[in-house]
Amino acid sequence: MEYTISITPQTERVVTDARSIPFGKVPTEHMFIAEYRNGEWQNARITPFANLTMSPFALCLHYGQTVFEGMKAFAMQDGKVNIFRPDKHYDRFTKSLQRLCMPSVPKNLFMEALHQLIQLDANWVPSDGDGSLYIRPFMIASEDRIGVKASDEYLFMIVCSPAYKYYAKPLKVKVETQFVRAADGGTGSAKCGGNYGAALLPSQMAREAGYDQVLWTDSKTHEFIEESGTMNVMFYMDNTLITPPLSGTILDGVTRDSLLTLAREKGIKVEERKIKHKEIIDALEAGKRVEAFGAGTAAVVAPIQIIAVGDKQYKCYIEPDAIMYQLQDELFNIRKGIAPDTHNWNYIV
Ligand code: COI
Repeated sequence: MEYTISITPQTERVVTDARSIPFGKVPTEHMFIAEYRNGEWQNARITPFANLTMSPFALCLHYGQTVFEGMKAFAMQDGKVNIFRPDKHYDRFTKSLQRLCMPSVPKNLFMEALHQLIQLDANWVPSDGDGSLYIRPFMIASEDRIGVKASDEYLFMIVCSPAYKYYAKPLKVKVETQFVRAADGGTGSAKCGGNYGAALLPSQMAREAGYDQVLWTDSKTHEFIEESGTMNVMFYMDNTLITPPLSGTILDGVTRDSLLTLAREKGIKVEERKIKHKEIIDALEAGKRVEAFGAGTAAVVAPIQIIAVGDKQYKCYIEPDAIMYQLQDELFNIRKGIAPDTHNWNYIV
């Protein structure tokens, strides 16, 4: 089915000093919105960014039927703008929606909405340094009904905000053995609001204890590392890049996949396997050089300088020649059009 997207442009379009904007604080001029009613998507439109009006009975406000994506657009060195790997984000969005019992968005609607919105707000895509435009597609259950049920009505929206560095400095993380992010059979591999809400308290407790984030462990034994904060996690030691394998409890990160692909192409040995925190700590105690880093859309590569287990803290390798920075630079160069995009990851707007 073909969708027509009506556009109401904003006349005044001024970008203030984007670098000084805290992550996710200032929206661009426009947003996309479509409504799902009577089994179909309708009224697709791009409007000036505005607040929503909804019934306090709206299901999303009560039972967590919300799913989102986090993606980025980049200004390339030739002046064009690209959206990074929208296909992979679309596929993950679709899987998350399925898990939360929500309707899918047709791919042509998703792509057309993205294309038109980013084209309209292209002057909000930062072109300096590591700047990018953070794109947040999301869906919420909008039916006004306070009984527990899958909603019959939804809003699909896309909003954007200029973004620079997510973390100002290398992270101190603590191995979390009390709380879990996800359990087998749960929603860990879906990008749904509930996963993030449930992580707030453990993250706050970690911050109060002097850490930036937690290293999540598995729900059964707390021995195996799963993710770090809101990111996938990777380790580089013994000339090998190691990351936990995809499973029902791990998010299929687009940055994760991109970094693993680039590492393999560089001839780096890559292992997607279960990894105990003890293995990392043993290596650090043996004086080995261990790199640890988070990988995610917002943060890209977030170096970890300290891993704590209980009261003990261990230092990871964060010097400039670390492999993680090489991978980060390679990704940056592809996105900026400095290096060839051999995987067709850049969708040019
Ligand atoms: C992302 O990296 O895109 C995330 O989803 C993390 C956070 C901003 C929620």
